[in-house]
Amino acid sequence: YKRVTTKSLIDMKANGEKISMLTAYDYTMAKIVDSAGVDVILVGDSASNVMAGHETTLPITLDQMIYHASCVVRGVERALVVVDLPFGTYQSDSKKALESAIRVMKESGAHALKLEGGKEIKDGIKKILGAGVPVMGHLGLTPQSIYKFGTYTVRAKEEEEATKLIEDAKMLEKIGCFAIVLEKIPAKLAAQVAEAVSIPIIGIGAGSGVDGQVLVVHDMIGMTHEFSPKFLRRYMNLYEDMTKAIGQYVEDVKSKDFPNEKEQY
Ligand code: KIV
Ligand code: NA
Repeated sequence: YKRVTTKSLIDMKANGEKISMLTAYDYTMAKIVDSAGVDVILVGDSASNVMAGHETTLPITLDQMIYHASCVVRGVERALVVVDLPFGTYQSDSKKALESAIRVMKESGAHALKLEGGKEIKDGIKKILGAGVPVMGHLGLTPQSIYKFGTYTVRAKEEEEATKLIEDAKMLEKIGCFAIVLEKIPAKLAAQVAEAVSIPIIGIGAGSGVDGQVLVVHDMIGMTHEFSPKFLRRYMNLYEDMTKAIGQYVEDVKSKDFPNEKEQY
C-alpha cells in the first residue's frame, strides 16, 4: 500500500475525490478498518463513551488516548492515523498544548492530531504546527464543550455562530491545519465552508457538500444501538447479531452441546 499522508488528502480534495474516515480505538478494529480501505483512522476521544462507558468525552486522559492510539498504530498499514487531544490537555496555554502533542506523537507513533475549537486555541495549534506536527481542526458541535452548549443539537443555525465558524475555518487553514472536521451543522453552511477553504472539510452530520465523511465505527456497524441521530447510517446490526451468537453460546454450554467430540483433545 501507498500510505495516506496529509498531502494526499489535500490532493484528493483538489481532484474531487471524497475522503473516508472512521474511528478505531484498538488493534483488531484498526486492522479491519484499514484493510477495508478507509483513508483516515481517527483515534477519537469518543473512546471515552464507546470504550469506557462515560457519558461525555471529558473524562478520558492523555495516557488513555496514548494507549488507544498506540494499539491502533500497530494495526494500520495504509491509513493516516489522527488522534484527538483530550479535554484539558491543550486549552490552558500553548506550551501545555505542545507538551501534550509531543507526548502523543512520541509515545503512540500516530501521524497527526485533532483539536476542538477556533480562535480560542489558535496559539496552541500554531505551536504544535511549529513543531512539525500536522493538526486537524474540529468546529461546530465540539463535544468537549457540551456543558457550554447544554445539548447535542445542531450548531451554528444562527448567523452569529455561523459567521464565527466560517472565520475560524479560514483561520485554521491560514495557520496551516491540513483538514477540518465539521460536526452537526446545517449542510448549507458546511458546503459554504468547504467552498471557502482549499483544505479538506470532513463532515459528520454536516451533509454531502463537504470533502469527506467520518463516523464512529461502532455506530456504523451497529454495535451500539441506543444512539440514533439522523446523520447515522447503520451498515450492520452487530448488536443484534452478537447478542444472538453469544446467547447461542450460553445455550450450548448449558446443554453440553459445546464442546463436542471434535472440539477437544
Ligand atoms: O471523537 C470522535 O469520534 C470524533 C468524531 C466524531 C469526529 O471526534
Ligand atoms: Na472527538
